[in-house]
Amino acid sequence: MIYKRCLVKKIKLIIKNDSGRELVAQNLSFKYLRYIKKLKNKNHMKFTYNKKITWVRHINWYIEYLKAPENFFYILKSDKSNYGTIGIKMKNDGWHIYSVIRDDSKIYEKNLMSILVNGVLQNYIVSGDIFCEVVRGNSAINWYSMLGFELTHETKNSYYLVLRKVGSV
Ligand SMILES: CC(C)(COP(=O)(O)OP(=O)(O)OC[C@H]1O[C@@H](n2cnc3c(N)ncnc32)[C@H](O)[C@@H]1OP(=O)(O)O)[C@@H](O)C(=O)NCCC(=O)NCCS
Repeated sequence: MIYKRCLVKKIKLIIKNDSGRELVAQNLSFKYLRYIKKLKNKNHMKFTYNKKITWVRHINWYIEYLKAPENFFYILKSDKSNYGTIGIKMKNDGWHIYSVIRDDSKIYEKNLMSILVNGVLQNYIVSGDIFCEVVRGNSAINWYSMLGFELTHETKNSYYLVLRKVGSV
């Protein structure tokens, strides 16, 4: 089972946009580490761990990522450019998405990040709820709401959201 999951980690996902154009969600590999560190640090105030990430922390995270069978991280690519990132990992209560970041240095088509999130969820989730945490003050909560996420509870620092029964029939 673990072998199968490791194989899954290597694949890239092909996601179609509304007009049928193919976008690639490329699985994280070593060569993207610099890129995602830069992207995360540009947006560091938007996340629970809101300090800038050092190389030591970043490499340690990557090593743990490689070891974890149910943790996937993708870079959205189109026309050889990178447009953003998404992570999805299994926790005790179900799948959580994390590090959803658009690369705002790129001109991108409308709804690209929504297409990425939906594409990744459709590829991985057969059924079950999807969770995410949004730090208080981050207006991305409105974006998640637009995608169908609902507030379950909140704490002093964060909102906790759920997308119910993705992919269930
Ligand atoms: C959240 C984020 C990924 C959304 O990406 P995006 O590229 O704007 O999203 P899409 O293109 O798929 O969606 C665009 C739509 O979402 C809306 N939207 C995007 N961000 C929004 C926000 N913060 N608040 C309200 N609406 C938002 C846009 O207005 C647009 O709506 P429209 O179609 O009615 O015009 C991006 O803003 C981002 O990277 N933010 C910084 C990192 C972050 O906070 N990530 C989430 C951490 S929990």
